[in-house]
Amino acid sequence: MTKIYAYSIRPDEEPALKEWQAQHPEVTVAYTDTALTATSADLAAGADAVVGLQTTEYTRAAIEKLATNGTRYLSIRNVGTDNIHRDVLREFGFKLSNVPVYSPNAIAEHAVIQLSRLVRRTKVMDNKVASRDLRWSPTIGREVRTITVGVIGTGNTGKVAIQILQGFGAKVIAYNRSHDPELAAQGIYVDSLDELYAQADAITLHIPGGPSTYHMLDADTFAKMKDGVVIVNCARGSVIDTTALVAALDSGKVGAAALDVYENENDVFYQDWRDKEFPDTVLNDLIDRENVLITPHAAFYTTKAVSEMVQQSMDNALTFINGGQPESEIEC
Ligand code: COI
Repeated sequence: MTKIYAYSIRPDEEPALKEWQAQHPEVTVAYTDTALTATSADLAAGADAVVGLQTTEYTRAAIEKLATNGTRYLSIRNVGTDNIHRDVLREFGFKLSNVPVYSPNAIAEHAVIQLSRLVRRTKVMDNKVASRDLRWSPTIGREVRTITVGVIGTGNTGKVAIQILQGFGAKVIAYNRSHDPELAAQGIYVDSLDELYAQADAITLHIPGGPSTYHMLDADTFAKMKDGVVIVNCARGSVIDTTALVAALDSGKVGAAALDVYENENDVFYQDWRDKEFPDTVLNDLIDRENVLITPHAAFYTTKAVSEMVQQSMDNALTFINGGQPESEIEC
């Protein structure tokens, strides 16, 4: 009988998984809440396909174990593949798919919400109110429609972010190597990142992680930006050099930042630190700043997105098993 084994299943994913199972009684579905590692790989023994979702590395040892146990398909429930070694998958004869469009609105909305919170200085006002300081001044905000927002990356998420920003009335400029025809017709593309850096009052990132975007925002690029620029990163932590960002926040070059992702997030995110010593002093400092908003890689985390991620990844796994090619197969 066909078998699919799913890793890192959270309680909020179980209803969607059970619904999928009910629609596919011919498939045996089993799952665990643990991530796929060399140790947990044996749990999937006998599965034709494995479904995963994790921000940590899919290690060679884990993939090798899966292959030894006869699995040949890896279907991930998210978009990013920066933690996957495609050459290793190729070596072990795996096929890979992702869920490229589970809900671009989930991440785009979060990015724009955080951006607008920063320009309206809501964290400062909230903290004042919590301390019973109910005065307006000096916490004056700006309106999103009065600023120029630079969107880097105009794939599915970047495009939705642009629509939402335009709803606010912002002037939007964008950079992407290839141009989306609809956006190009609006004339929003600039020719270079340097142009975007020079013009944008706020910048939101919607690009993948990986070697080509590693530390794309560093001391040199911050220097090219407007003084007081607002930075929003709901993409990948590796895109921003955190040390350079902290220095730019200290100098005022960066006026405010919202980070849903963070370079060392796997050491700190996804855990409850309330009764433990917080181990990351840099992140601790960022969390405390009134002009910084931190969320733990949660931009994607909506009911709609979670359900789509489960349904589509399970569909992809089954398509592979049945000898088909999911639309979102990724070349290994
Ligand atoms: C992605 O879809 O790539 C995300 O960043 C979501 C996360 C849960 C891995």
